[in-house]
Amino acid sequence: MEPAWIGANGKEEHMASRVAVVGAGPSGLAQLHAFEEARKKGAAVPEVVCFDKQSEWGGLWNYTWRTGLDEFGDAVHGSMYRYLWSNGPKECLEFADYTFDEHFGRPIPSFPPREVLFDYVTGRAKKNNVKQFIQFNTSVRWISYDESREKFDVTVEVLTDRTTRTEEFDYVIVATGHFSTPNVPDYEGFQRFPGRVLHSHDFRDSREFAGKDLLVMGSSYSAEDIALQSKKYGARSVTISYRTAPMGFKWPDGIDEVPRLVKMDGNTAHFADGGTRHVDAIALCTGYQHCFPFIEDSLRLRTANVLYTPDLYKGVCWLDNPKMMYLGMQDQYYTFTLFDAEAWYARDYVLGRLTLPPRQEMADDIDSWRARQDTLADPAEEIDFQADHIADLVKDVDYPVFDLDLTREHFKKWEHDKEESITGYRDRGFSSPCTGAVAPTHHTPWWEELDDSLATFLGDAGKDAEATV
Ligand SMILES: Cc1cc2nc3c(=O)[nH]c(=O)nc-3n(C[C@H](O)[C@H](O)[C@H](O)COP(=O)(O)OP(=O)(O)OC[C@H]3O[C@@H](n4cnc5c(N)ncnc54)[C@H](O)[C@@H]3O)c2cc1C
Ligand SMILES: NC(=O)c1ccc[n+]([C@@H]2O[C@H](COP(=O)([O-])OP(=O)(O)OC[C@H]3O[C@@H](n4cnc5c(N)ncnc54)[C@H](OP(=O)(O)O)[C@@H]3O)[C@@H](O)[C@H]2O)c1
Repeated sequence: MEPAWIGANGKEEHMASRVAVVGAGPSGLAQLHAFEEARKKGAAVPEVVCFDKQSEWGGLWNYTWRTGLDEFGDAVHGSMYRYLWSNGPKECLEFADYTFDEHFGRPIPSFPPREVLFDYVTGRAKKNNVKQFIQFNTSVRWISYDESREKFDVTVEVLTDRTTRTEEFDYVIVATGHFSTPNVPDYEGFQRFPGRVLHSHDFRDSREFAGKDLLVMGSSYSAEDIALQSKKYGARSVTISYRTAPMGFKWPDGIDEVPRLVKMDGNTAHFADGGTRHVDAIALCTGYQHCFPFIEDSLRLRTANVLYTPDLYKGVCWLDNPKMMYLGMQDQYYTFTLFDAEAWYARDYVLGRLTLPPRQEMADDIDSWRARQDTLADPAEEIDFQADHIADLVKDVDYPVFDLDLTREHFKKWEHDKEESITGYRDRGFSSPCTGAVAPTHHTPWWEELDDSLATFLGDAGKDAEATV
């Protein structure tokens, strides 16, 4: 039986002896931070152990040049690439307890490049010294639950010395992300195509396609961004082939959208409308799979990339065993803010501050969210839906107050900005939901800015970038 005590709020609190957090990306770091915040306020926090298979924190934001297998023969986690900029306003992912102004010491524009967001995410983690809880280069190989002992067994492999061990935990929180295992369709003619076929997971540097005719498959964020990047960095032409519907933006010269690919015949692409194009290379921006081969069947989340997954109460707690939790498993308009809300919820469940309803009530709650999800007609409704999900989480926890409604409006304005100018939307500035401060305009229009370094973004090229944080 877990020890219990009366907490600061006068309610009985329960002490779990051990919590495993799998992954030290933005979601896992949010979890470690949430526990630290509670501990600093005097809560008795259980032992928290975080495992990450990479040698550094930050998850996808920790850029790697590697593709395929990593130095240990494991699948490379990273899917980010050079010259990647935030595709949503930073104000919509701002930590309520660690603002951009606090981190950078001054206002910065609304659409930072990857290195800047990496710096921000890890800045909060450094402030709370959560690295002490992380075991790097440690891959979680198997998670199972023993009903009789009411314990999870977590088997990990330390990649640097190839040792494995199994440890016992009372709670497991899976924060391994879901944009790392590519969905790779096959099309007639790929087998004999003379150029390169790659998935966006393996895309690293758009300069590879300079002077080439690139075919991009898909009609979501990766397709949009890789098409624009490739053109920006010198592709001769970019053809985007959609399966269901075109994105329909006003594309710059040299990019256009065509219907579904029927087949490749040598270098010639044939599309469903009868059109053909010469193609030198093919980028499959065809999405990712939720893939958890390290979790036993009865605990394993199975879902498509949707805003509200099956089997997770509040999007967090595994219905059949809520001591198993998942963070960040949704399709994402909101990212860091959503992960924080989920992490606070998971933490308070572990600390015994939240009591979950009976299983049937949890199942009904999931069903009602998913029924509403089925009715969503457009991005504005999807944004409201995900904002409502966040509101549903934070109402029960002490996550600091921020203006969630303002971020809904920001996201809707952002959608509109993209319709207006797909190359210019990143030049707009938004106001902070935490401080109200309006972001300054970046010194160079995004479409003309080829340098994505933190130093250049902050206007400190030539100075010591570290000195700015
Ligand atoms: C190309 C791309 C661009 C994106 N751009 C943006 C953007 O501009 N803005 C935005 O807000 N979001 C963006 N995202 C969304 C992204 O999902 C989130 O920002 C965020 O990285 C998710 O955090 P996470 O911690 O849930 O997962 P991840 O960042 O994927 O981190 C998961 C961590 O788990 C570790 N891990 C995985 N498996 C194991 C295992 N078995 N054992 C131990 N450790 C393991 C990994 O090493 C990794 O460190 C982008 C995603 C992609 C793919
Ligand atoms: N910062 C940035 O600029 C940036 C850049 C890239 C990605 N991201 C992030 O990365 C995440 C993943 O985005 P994503 O675009 O990779 O995945 P996604 O949003 O899941 O979209 C997958 C796309 O693949 C298409 N598709 C799937 N199977 C296909 C097939 N067999 N043939 C043709 N098309 C197929 C889908 O088409 P249908 O519509 O027909 O289903 C859909 O358009 C998002 O969170 C996004 O925000 C951000």
